[in-house]
Amino acid sequence: MSARKKAQATWGGRFSAGPAELMLRFGESVSFDRRLWAQDIRGSKAHATMLSKVGILTARECAAIVKGLDGIAREIAAGKFVWSEALEDVHMNIESALTQRVPAAAKLHTARSRNDQVATDVRLWIKDQAAAVDAALVGLLRALVELAAANATVILPGYTHLQRAQPVSAAHHLLAYAEMFGRDRTRFAAAAASANWCPLGSGAIAGTTLPIRREITAKLLGFVDAKGRPQVTTNSMDAVADRDPATEFCFAAALCGVHLSRLAEDMILWSTAEFGFARMPDEFSTGSSLMPQKRNPDSMELLRGKAARFQASLTHLLTLTKGLPLTYNRDLQDDKPPLFDAADQILLSLDVAAATLRGTTFNRARCLAAASDPALLATDLADWLVRKGMPFRHAHHAVGRLVALAEKTAVPLDKLSDAAALTADAAFTKGWREVFNLQRGFAARENTGMPGPKAVARELARWRKALR
Ligand code: ARG
Repeated sequence: MSARKKAQATWGGRFSAGPAELMLRFGESVSFDRRLWAQDIRGSKAHATMLSKVGILTARECAAIVKGLDGIAREIAAGKFVWSEALEDVHMNIESALTQRVPAAAKLHTARSRNDQVATDVRLWIKDQAAAVDAALVGLLRALVELAAANATVILPGYTHLQRAQPVSAAHHLLAYAEMFGRDRTRFAAAAASANWCPLGSGAIAGTTLPIRREITAKLLGFVDAKGRPQVTTNSMDAVADRDPATEFCFAAALCGVHLSRLAEDMILWSTAEFGFARMPDEFSTGSSLMPQKRNPDSMELLRGKAARFQASLTHLLTLTKGLPLTYNRDLQDDKPPLFDAADQILLSLDVAAATLRGTTFNRARCLAAASDPALLATDLADWLVRKGMPFRHAHHAVGRLVALAEKTAVPLDKLSDAAALTADAAFTKGWREVFNLQRGFAARENTGMPGPKAVARELARWRKALR
């Protein structure tokens, strides 16, 4: 038998020729899906155990299979396992190695197909990765919260349309990102939850006629609910065709990547000479090979760029599955590179963002100078008129006239004379100028979600407690 024919002994029964070299090269996935080896072995051990419980394998056969799989796992972990592209994928590589060592392994693929096997492996992998991403998100959240706490009294302008809008604290600004990354945690958890249903037993498409007990396998693999009850997929066709968990994971990564990218952009702006609000650590900045003075925010630029890659992974999976007829189609084999890439890159990105933030400092004076533009309190002045009974729409106009006057006469808003103010509106009676006090403005903003120092302190305490 030629190597090619032998390689495909799994379905070789009805074939007279093995696949062409070119087809093998085109069709192999072991070069990337070998990453699923630990999940594949876990799945096979659980499957063998279940088969022995229902009498399809003897206890001896099961023990021999489990021992053989453990040996293979050790070999792979030690980098000694020889992977063969001719054996196509991770499943057939492991099964073939096992069969060479343990004759009973010929019974392992009973009541199982690579279709439910790969679905199971990927779900187990997603659950593991979601847990790792969650830990990385917690690390980033801690860095954000500590940077916020250290800069709770740093005042800077908040922006809309990238035009100075109203003063906020650095802490309030940073905690906005904590909200986003906090929601990202729930999205990764949701992806893990939809992965948490065991497809084993779905077979290739229509289950099996053999008396398997799916709950046993599900439980052994940790596909259980909060009370420890096994969760098995409830439609065999859906189970082998579905790639929702991977797509949801990539969506969570794509949106988290967008949040990282927005944070990166703020950091990049803040560290320009024009802003000069913040300084990132040397360890995460780079210089120029030509311009000696340069200090570039490369870590943040790379983070901003990664967002494109996460979106590509998500788009890849959405496009891969759209219009595919039920159930399994070989197209689905290519779901793994984007999923793996999304997981690798999001883990790396979250760590880089956290480490960069841990070494970031704010320039209090530069921030305060930018936030001290009295025009940033124009809205507070309109609120002052509202307190005196003026409808807000009228107050907005009155303050608008005052701002125009300040601009025209090149006098700062808070330095206009009382007489001049009265020409803008008769309501600018004594006391209007008191509004131009940053502390006062902040102290008036203590409602939930606002940037007042007490409100921010409450939020910092809440975050610290949540991240303990
Ligand atoms: N390597 C394959 C994949 O990842 C495993 C499933 C193969 N199933 C099949 N019917 N050819 O999709």
